[in-house]
Amino acid sequence: MCEKVRIAVLASGGGTNLQALIDAERSGKIQNGEIALVICNRKSAYAAERARLAGIRAEIVTRKECGGQEGFEARMTELFEEENIELIVLAGFLNILTSDFVRRYDHRIVNIHPSLIPAFCGEGFYGIVPHEAALERGVKITGATVHFVNEIADGGEIIAQKAVEVLPGDTPEVLQRRVMEQAEWIILPAAVSMLCDRLTERKN
Ligand code: GAR
Repeated sequence: MCEKVRIAVLASGGGTNLQALIDAERSGKIQNGEIALVICNRKSAYAAERARLAGIRAEIVTRKECGGQEGFEARMTELFEEENIELIVLAGFLNILTSDFVRRYDHRIVNIHPSLIPAFCGEGFYGIVPHEAALERGVKITGATVHFVNEIADGGEIIAQKAVEVLPGDTPEVLQRRVMEQAEWIILPAAVSMLCDRLTERKN
């Protein structure tokens, strides 16, 4: 049997996208990949607990404890090397990585963003903000995007997108939940599965 693609998931918060990935691996929707490492950059991130409950190595790595962004990225690189990581998934990871770091993992880092890029994206658009902006602008359709990460915030090649309806009376929180349920938790595992298949083909 072929070895599976070793995946690291980076998360800052609740980790529902991480959970969707864990569930997809367990149910066989991701066949050629295994989540080998979860890194959280906030001590309070529930994502770390989800990883531990699933028996996945979880590490808390903070910029502060590493003496800044450089040390933070160096520590993450060390962990990736230790775990032979081949694919990095940013699943609600609220830290802007440096160009050097991103270039080192060209086409090996993917991100999930809660809007249809190029709408409501770029610096400052994270978490609830894209949903607030979508409601303010009055769009009738929003959604989520999975894309490769490059030096430009939310500017890398798009891998998958899914549209979600905005409904009358939506609050940012209600819309955020619908975008997660109807788009993020579906397209992120599907995209990761597709990339693992592709990387596996390349190895054989
Ligand atoms: C998700 O909605 C994700 O798309 C978003 O943060 C949330 C994390 O939720 N990411 C960004 O805004 C990145 N720019 P989760 O921790 O429950 O997966």
